[in-house]
Amino acid sequence: MISALAFCAALAGSSADSRAQKLVASMTQAELLQLVQGHLARPFRDPTPAGAIGSAGFVPGIARLSIPSLQETDAILGIANPGNVRPGDVATAMPSGLALASTWDPQIAYDSAVIVGDEAWHKGFNVLLGPGLDLARDPRNGRNFEYLGEDPLLAGTLAAASICGTQSRHVIATAKHFALNDQETGRNVLSADIGVSAMRESDLLAFEIAIETGQPGAVMCAYNRINGVYACNDEHLLRDVLKRDWRFKGWVMSDWGAVNNPAAVTNGLDQESAVELDANFNGSGYFSAVPVLLLAKMNERILRSMLAVGLFAQPPQESPIDYDAHAQVALREAERGIVLLKNDGTLPIAAATQRVAVIGGHADAGVLSGGGSAQVTPVGGAAAVLLAGNEPSPSGPVVYDPSSPLKAIRAGAPSAQVGFADGSNPSSAAALAKQADVAIVFATRWNSEAVDDPDLTLPNGQDALIEAIAAANPHTIVVLETGNPVTMPWLDRVSGVLECWYPGQKGGEAIANVLSGKVDPSGRLPITFPASEEQLARPTLPGLDELLALSASGKHGTLAPFSVTYSEGGDVGYRRYVKQSLKPLFAFGYGLSYTTFRNSGFRIEKEQPLTVQFDVTNTGDRPGIDTPQVYLTQKAGVPEMRLIGFSSVTLAPGQTQTLTLVADPRLLADFDAAADVWRIRAGQYEVALGSASDNLEMSASTTVAAQILPP
Ligand code: BGC
Repeated sequence: MISALAFCAALAGSSADSRAQKLVASMTQAELLQLVQGHLARPFRDPTPAGAIGSAGFVPGIARLSIPSLQETDAILGIANPGNVRPGDVATAMPSGLALASTWDPQIAYDSAVIVGDEAWHKGFNVLLGPGLDLARDPRNGRNFEYLGEDPLLAGTLAAASICGTQSRHVIATAKHFALNDQETGRNVLSADIGVSAMRESDLLAFEIAIETGQPGAVMCAYNRINGVYACNDEHLLRDVLKRDWRFKGWVMSDWGAVNNPAAVTNGLDQESAVELDANFNGSGYFSAVPVLLLAKMNERILRSMLAVGLFAQPPQESPIDYDAHAQVALREAERGIVLLKNDGTLPIAAATQRVAVIGGHADAGVLSGGGSAQVTPVGGAAAVLLAGNEPSPSGPVVYDPSSPLKAIRAGAPSAQVGFADGSNPSSAAALAKQADVAIVFATRWNSEAVDDPDLTLPNGQDALIEAIAAANPHTIVVLETGNPVTMPWLDRVSGVLECWYPGQKGGEAIANVLSGKVDPSGRLPITFPASEEQLARPTLPGLDELLALSASGKHGTLAPFSVTYSEGGDVGYRRYVKQSLKPLFAFGYGLSYTTFRNSGFRIEKEQPLTVQFDVTNTGDRPGIDTPQVYLTQKAGVPEMRLIGFSSVTLAPGQTQTLTLVADPRLLADFDAAADVWRIRAGQYEVALGSASDNLEMSASTTVAAQILPP
């Protein structure tokens, strides 16, 4: 159910192809080589290259032909400032990718990306190294917080909107990491092993949807191998799938340091990023041996994107940024992305509440953010930067965005007594909680690029802290700021749970607004919360034991190559839970509200394309936002489980809205790898409407004729 995303139209139809061809025809061999090799844009062995603003990457332009330089920055959660290369520069820290994905709302994705694109442009950047949309195959992946969850339709639709938002500001968007960079442990050596059909129906489908709708100027190939072949060297992935089947017109850039084989440059890669990281870089680079016709095509792709997105016509201009206005967009996104997981009626906190205890999670300072290349230095500066060792982080620093939930709660309840305990001493925190009408415990779990979670447990004794508070106060609310799902051994003993992810620049205010009921919680989970690690397709994270052994031995170095067998195939996340009758802690699609909704009148309107219609009503007494979901539950007579449509709808109390959703035919099909087509098999198809993948309320079925769709 890929909506047309009206806001993406702006980039369609341009004379970019012919203009790019003309430019390439007038370029010398040296100039052709210049554009296909990117450089680190910060001091490494050498100083920052001349002309680079200071960021992740830089490709010098060609003044003779008025070709601008590419100034490349991370990323979609806000403009990074790695190593403070631009001294003191800050940017709006947007909520994490999983927060965005929890909104299930392409408009929010678009609005968020417009802000980030705008900041990029005003800082002088014209390439954004995002969005990231690797599927959350493993809830311990350290980069899930950057990505958009476990479902290809949801992730692909949101990424498309995000790409359109960025590019509307004349900044090229880069869909990454193509593909199957689904865990960080051993990312440079592992091989993601999976069948061709299975990957087309899952991880690649997310990219396919994002690329066809969003038309990003660039795609970044990933660090890992796929079925034994490095992604940046994978002819099948880059040439057959991306460029031939999907007709992608932009260019493929490598991830930083991901090119380790000269053959890569003739297998579909168009540009090597950060050549300085390339162990074999010898000054002239791999590309000098590339046949000139191929080199010309690579340049054409780069220049075409630059022209289509407006890099020549609308060059970036360093100028002031309206951070206050941008903070409001970050606030709205954070509010929409908060998921209410449990509520016994304690929430929203009654206005008359006299004594509130706020405990833990550095809630006095700010809200947690994720680390690695996506790390943003927030406007106002980091509230708390904890060096590695203070938190469960092998790397660091751990940055808190300067939006204190404690301050926001106090501001929202001026007549209440709001006490704070940092949680380092559970018994004194429990004493504070005992005297309060409501206790709010903040629990955090930091994630970062390059490091996975070894398990799903909250670190640093936070489970015990929550137990102690819950024992002291029968009205205990847990507020989670995590980059991934966590287990909740205390769930039965608390009154409420909010998953706030990494909520960004205005996260504290967003949390306070949802706790008080000023804002109705509307997030829905984009990723399954497992009951335990035992439920995972791979209970032990592949490579983890080897990594632990390596660090225990005190040896530095990388892991030996290994394979991760994705035996679940295309059944990522909830699809596998449903097919294997596993009961998760919280299911994909789940999320509560302070009001109530009812779905009714679900019916199939049309067989081809499969179109459903139904009514959704706000049956409560407060306004709210619902996200009804449509799943395919039977395919050609065989049980199936796949999200095929969703819509987020704002309803006043008592209001009813009729929704019509059209399923993308590929979601009903199997990918036939031998014939390289999508095939819908003739037979009985059942679709169901519900409020979560484990809560389907009504269904309808129909007979569908066989159909073949292009790849
Ligand atoms: C990350 C990319 C990032 C690049 C540049 C790599 O380590 O995987 O996502 O865009 O660095 O900072």
